[in-house]
Amino acid sequence: MNANSFHHFLHIFLNLIQLTCFLTSTAISAAPLSLNCGSKDGGNDADNRKWEPDTKYLISGHKSISTTALTHEPSLSSDVPYMTARIITGETTYKFNVNSTSRYILRLHFYPSNYPNFNVSNSYTILTTNSITLLNNFSAFITAEALSQAYLIKEFSLAAFNSDSITVTFKPVSRSTRSKSFAFVNGIELITEPDLFDDKVGLVGVSHNYGTIDGVSSNMQCMFRLNVGGQYIHPTNDSGGLMRSWYDDTPYMFGAGTVTHIANVTIDYRDLPEATAPADVYRTARSQGPDPNTNKQGNVTWTFPVDANFTYLVRFHFCDYQHDKVNQRVFEIYLNNETAFATADVIAWTGGKGIPTRKDYAIYVGDKSGEEELWVTLHTNIQLEPEFYDVLLNGLEIFKLSDSKSNLAGRNPVPSEMMQKQLIANRDAIDPDAIGVKHVVGGAMGGAATIGVAMMVVFVIRRRRRVPGTDSGVTSWLPLYGNSTSKSTVSGKSQCGSNLSSDAVCNCRYFSLVEIKSATNNFEEGNVIGVGGFGKVYKGVIDGNMKVAIKRSNPSSEQGVNEFVTEIEMLSKLRHRHLVSLIGFCEEGNEMVLVYDYMGKGTLREHLYKGNKITLSWKQRLDILVGAAKGLHYLHTGAKYTIIHRDVKTTNILCDDNWVAKVSDFGLSKTGPNLNQNHVSTVVKGSFGYLDPEYFRRQQLTEKSDVYSFGVVLFEVLCARPALNPNLPKEQVSLADYALQSARRGTLEEMVDPHLKGTITPESFKKFTECSLKCLADHGLERPSMGDVLWTLEFVLKQETKGDETRNDKKSGSTGGGTVEVPIQNSDMIAMHLNTLNLDDDEYDYDSDDGNAFSQIVDPKGR
Ligand SMILES: *[C@@H]1O[C@H](CO)[C@@H](O)[C@H](O)[C@H]1NC(C)=O
Ligand SMILES: *[C@@H]1O[C@H](CO)[C@@H](O)[C@H](O)[C@H]1NC(C)=O
Ligand SMILES: *[C@@H]1O[C@H](CO)[C@@H](O)[C@H](O)[C@H]1NC(C)=O
Ligand SMILES: *[C@@H]1O[C@H](CO)[C@@H](O)[C@H](O)[C@H]1NC(C)=O
Ligand SMILES: *[C@@H]1O[C@H](CO)[C@@H](O)[C@H](O)[C@H]1NC(C)=O
Ligand SMILES: *[C@@H]1O[C@H](CO)[C@@H](O)[C@H](O)[C@H]1NC(C)=O
Ligand SMILES: *[C@@H]1O[C@H](CO)[C@@H](O)[C@H](O)[C@H]1NC(C)=O
Ligand SMILES: *[C@@H]1O[C@H](CO)[C@@H](O)[C@H](O)[C@H]1NC(C)=O
Repeated sequence: MNANSFHHFLHIFLNLIQLTCFLTSTAISAAPLSLNCGSKDGGNDADNRKWEPDTKYLISGHKSISTTALTHEPSLSSDVPYMTARIITGETTYKFNVNSTSRYILRLHFYPSNYPNFNVSNSYTILTTNSITLLNNFSAFITAEALSQAYLIKEFSLAAFNSDSITVTFKPVSRSTRSKSFAFVNGIELITEPDLFDDKVGLVGVSHNYGTIDGVSSNMQCMFRLNVGGQYIHPTNDSGGLMRSWYDDTPYMFGAGTVTHIANVTIDYRDLPEATAPADVYRTARSQGPDPNTNKQGNVTWTFPVDANFTYLVRFHFCDYQHDKVNQRVFEIYLNNETAFATADVIAWTGGKGIPTRKDYAIYVGDKSGEEELWVTLHTNIQLEPEFYDVLLNGLEIFKLSDSKSNLAGRNPVPSEMMQKQLIANRDAIDPDAIGVKHVVGGAMGGAATIGVAMMVVFVIRRRRRVPGTDSGVTSWLPLYGNSTSKSTVSGKSQCGSNLSSDAVCNCRYFSLVEIKSATNNFEEGNVIGVGGFGKVYKGVIDGNMKVAIKRSNPSSEQGVNEFVTEIEMLSKLRHRHLVSLIGFCEEGNEMVLVYDYMGKGTLREHLYKGNKITLSWKQRLDILVGAAKGLHYLHTGAKYTIIHRDVKTTNILCDDNWVAKVSDFGLSKTGPNLNQNHVSTVVKGSFGYLDPEYFRRQQLTEKSDVYSFGVVLFEVLCARPALNPNLPKEQVSLADYALQSARRGTLEEMVDPHLKGTITPESFKKFTECSLKCLADHGLERPSMGDVLWTLEFVLKQETKGDETRNDKKSGSTGGGTVEVPIQNSDMIAMHLNTLNLDDDEYDYDSDDGNAFSQIVDPKGR
């Protein structure tokens, strides 16, 4: 062989090597694959991530077309991949070559907009991959509508198939012969997943004999992924390049009594793959408060709506950065009230501070009594007598495992017809030109976008009302509404012939007028505890001993019907410890009646400066504010729809017998923002003194309007004076203005309630007032989100509690820890929300022995 031919040979040889390398790199996609379906040439998304066209992966493309969405909703996080779609009219398969021994994350993006010639409400999809059914009869339209999201993301984690390709097959479900059936998809991601699962995961529950399931060979759908005690983590900040989103856990919290914290530590992963979770998950956590006695009695619980008849793998992420010894913090872990692990001790697991670990447990969720919920509960282990009675959680993931038929598909959520009707009506009122767009965008504006999308991965919230004491009064459980022959024993689901959606009806108890009359002694005047625009509020007793507040509409009130319906619709869906609960309703003849939990301690306002002689301590006030902030934060970010309260004030913050603060009065609430603007235009409603100036000027409502009002509440609590007090010198009449002025002059301290003098530490004062002042910023954009406010308040409360501890330590157990005992004589005190569309006297006299000049100054009809 001469030199030349050798070079020639070498050349060919090198080319061959290059070619093989090229072939293997296309054959096995180790790099993440992002497909912008239906686009000609891909494109970059808002994070500058590149998405490629999907055509070359289609192996039966002739039954599909590429198209572009007809509408562009402002809450779309990015045009790529959502604005283009592949519409699939017959079975269509994508094929991806993969490493046969790797797990993969398959993430699908759906934007249920209308597409040219296709009405998205007719789209039902079956999605299978290899032999697994991922979605069945899936309507992106119904799901997005029920969750109030513009777009949906479904994420699956697929076990290694022992095959060098994954096929993803879409098939439209034919629903009727008349309408074209089709499926569609906007984006597909396929990412290699490192080995993150164990082959033996303990199955919790006696009935399962504590067996195990194999995580390694399981196919799963990610249902929830939470950065517990922390903030939203964007996909680009995820670890391991897995592009996962980690959401705030507050919307799923059940109950209170927790604190969140952030550590300034380097996370030492040791043996744990970094892809398990980003360091930011481990740097933030939620634990209980500092009082061991309270902690011993309390549980920390999260609840999740899930599909029944599936096994779930629940992954706990832990990292202790506060303690470093074994038996300092030991707690029990429960899943659906069954013990998963009784002696969780993070340091015992990890060996030290700042070292993370994760623990997996599995549980089967059956179809018992229609409850489709997963409860995760932590409780300090009292038997082991740890040094600190406390719990800890840094992150939580919940995966649904495929069932014995290789199925992962759940049902479509049940949308509320009434809610839709109302929203469409609102929409039409705002923008009569908008047609064809049926859905409403929730939660995605400005900085709030991040948390708002938390519910995207979430399924329908079909939370059933739990009414204490109703088990005895079974006769009054009538799941039937709108049928005047009411007491007939019709079985099965409700048959709503009326205004209300079946969803609301099933969530609520229906009362007959007879029951209501007997509860209130035939609407006896002596039982009236409040009067508002809607009508009178009565105290009542149902089921023998359960105290309730009963709101009876004034039949002549025109706003009544709408607000009645809004309130049932809203409240029947919203369940939160810090929101007043609706127990049920009655509509019979001309009567419209709403039945609520009875709030034994009445309004926040009356404990600040009205009537009662008790003075709440600074800590008690903070406690109540934290509760109220949680309620509002939940309204803004946690519910199916972003809800703007519109009438935040101290009379709408109520306390129950245990001083748990609850936000009330949703009669004015708006879901929003929707459509082609990120605010809701509306007739200005609300209460003077609390009204967002921007909202007033521009008549545009955003959730920051609530933040403004809450800022006024914060000052009201600090200063113990009304938002408006016309009896004061002119520059002091409006609390908000006065506070801003005082801040400029540096005289804020002079405004503080004399009862609090000397009890607020300078640091707390600074933090608290800084936050309150920011809430009062002229422009909504400059105001913090409710989540930020909540964070600050919890921080301040924690500081104060710490302070107390040291003080108590010095006095050596004088008052027995941090529990608050407030002597209240009048336990019959109640305030159901007085609807304050009118400026009633009660609102504006700040001192009962003083006359009220203000109601004459403002014309109540002027709003
Ligand atoms: C396939 O994945 C395994 C680990 O999951 C790895 O060891 C192997 O090198 C991969 N094969 C190829 C051809 O990339
Ligand atoms: C990622 O994290 C960094 C640092 O915490 C933060 O500044 C940045 O805003 C985050 N990126 C996104 C897209 O949220
Ligand atoms: C975090 O720790 C570093 C070094 O220990 C320190 O310089 C920094 O100020 C700390 N940050 C905070 C927010 O405490
Ligand atoms: C769960 O399974 C039971 C028994 O097979 C069935 O009756 C029920 O409808 C299923 N529930 C759901 C939500 O699929
Ligand atoms: C767990 O127990 C609580 C009461 O202790 C109950 O209200 C709740 O429904 C139970 N949860 C489940 C999923 O069984
Ligand atoms: C805490 O939760 C566990 C399991 O759900 C339950 O057994 C226990 O009674 C609860 N304790 C309290 C104080 O609610
Ligand atoms: C498909 O979903 C729709 C909407 O949720 C439902 O009405 C219908 O019964 C479902 N069809 C099947 C076959 O499950
Ligand atoms: C889409 O179909 C639904 C039900 O089939 C219908 O109510 C709606 O008006 C249609 N929308 C458009 C824009 O045609």
